Amino acid sequence: MLIWLAVGMLFACSNDKYKTIPPELAKDMGKKAIMALGSTLLQEVSQALAKDTTGVGAIQYCNIHALPLTDSINASLGDTIRVRRTALRVRNPKNTPDDIDVKVMQELQRSQTHDLYFYDDPNLAEYRVYKPLYIMSMCLKCHGPVDNIHPAVQQVLKEKYPQDRAVDFELGDFRGVIVAEIPKKVPLK
Ligand code: HEC
Repeated sequence: MLIWLAVGMLFACSNDKYKTIPPELAKDMGKKAIMALGSTLLQEVSQALAKDTTGVGAIQYCNIHALPLTDSINASLGDTIRVRRTALRVRNPKNTPDDIDVKVMQELQRSQTHDLYFYDDPNLAEYRVYKPLYIMSMCLKCHGPVDNIHPAVQQVLKEKYPQDRAVDFELGDFRGVIVAEIPKKVPLK
């Protein structure tokens, strides 16, 4: 009897302390977070490329700012939702995918879709939203066939990313994803 009372209280407490996020809301939150990171990066890199067409200035920007920018966007999202970038072949080992990322990316690469992909595994505490990224001409300056990459950019890649696997892509190739992770339950403030 006492046990049932305790269990009942536990449920009551958890209901009081947490808010459940429905899938439709999660999709929307994920989309907004992905847009925030994607459009900022694209804008900053395009501006840097316009100033210095070799790509050296832009690559310095990516090297110094890509991860801190991701962190600051996560902070501005209030820490309930997290965005990051990953790929099947990564440049920065810090962007290495997990098993779910790999499975989803293989599927995206196969289908060549440009649509957002919603991942909801009942065993997982968070939803995920994936935005597939494809190689556009500007990406080739840093991710294209090595022979076409400016020697100065190649030099930076060698120094900063000795384990780089993110070259030799062609126009239109699947390059990777932006992922947003949204918890299914958030604590009530
Ligand atoms: C000026 C050079 C430059 C250009 C142009 C560029 N990238 Fe990158 N990219 C980088 C660098 C440097 C990193 C590693 C950033 C880091 O340290 O996190 C990177 C990382 C990434 C990642 C994260 C996964 C990984 O490999 O570490 C993705 C995804 C990505 N780039 C996609 C693109 C796409 C798509 C484009 C074109 C729209 C593009 N990049 C254009 C330099 C560039």
